[in-house]
Amino acid sequence: MVNRGGEAPEPERIAEQLSGRIAMQPDVFIVLGSGLGAIEQSVEDAVSVPFQAIRGMPRPSVKGHAGRFVMGSIGGVSVLLQSGRFHAYEGHGMDTVALPVRVAACLGASTLVATNAAGGIREDLGPGRLVRIEDHLNLMLGNPLAGSVVEGEARFPDMSEPYDRALGVLAANVAERLGISLDRGVYAAVLGPSYETAAEVRMLARLGADLVGMSTVPEVITARARGMRCLAFSMVTNRAAGLSDAPLSHDDVLEVGARAGGRLADLVSGVMAELGRISAGPDDHEGRAK
Ligand code: HPA
Repeated sequence: MVNRGGEAPEPERIAEQLSGRIAMQPDVFIVLGSGLGAIEQSVEDAVSVPFQAIRGMPRPSVKGHAGRFVMGSIGGVSVLLQSGRFHAYEGHGMDTVALPVRVAACLGASTLVATNAAGGIREDLGPGRLVRIEDHLNLMLGNPLAGSVVEGEARFPDMSEPYDRALGVLAANVAERLGISLDRGVYAAVLGPSYETAAEVRMLARLGADLVGMSTVPEVITARARGMRCLAFSMVTNRAAGLSDAPLSHDDVLEVGARAGGRLADLVSGVMAELGRISAGPDDHEGRAK
């Protein structure tokens, strides 16, 4: 593992470097999945900080993951965006995978919005379907909270409802208003990087998974340990292994993500606008209602 044995990256140090470059503290931390960079275009007054400009920041190595933080606002809500996520399959320790969430929390973010590309297991989840994750199976054989307790985090966080119910309802309402079809499902997180075998996909289906992917769960676990509210979306980029005739390829995942990612960007922007409207209070609420 890349960071094991070395010094653990310190979120406070990284947060300090970022806070010198932004005027506002972020309320929402958004993590972009493979090929899902379209959301970046919605950020107003964007300030982009490449990971290589930050001391102590590791680098992601996957195609489709650029490696930068973008700060700004969407729909009147101040956001910190991570473009280029760290995956355990790259050899990163779970502390590195979780690092950006910890940085965002140090900067004051109280909500995590995570996005990812996923394989569809449930029959109706074909390429291009957009799904709100309503629960997950952690099958990554690792947990970012293992080890000493990080300051500000719970030792044994409750995970009976990791995804915030009210945010989920809000997202469903926004999707309906925008005419975006949004399913709900259970996401199984596996280590990767090899895709699943057909037998593994049958196993995942029996375990209750609707989707499978290689990310998101470590970030959500970390966010919950910090008391952050979580909302997560999967863009289905392919039928999971054995459920279609086509072999799986990362290029196809990126291609579908790029083609269908605009809808996810519209949805996230809509959710941010709604959150902005709610936090502006009842007076403004009336004034700005559609
Ligand atoms: N399996 C695991 N991860 C994925 C898949 C998949 O089929 N598609 C996109 N990410």
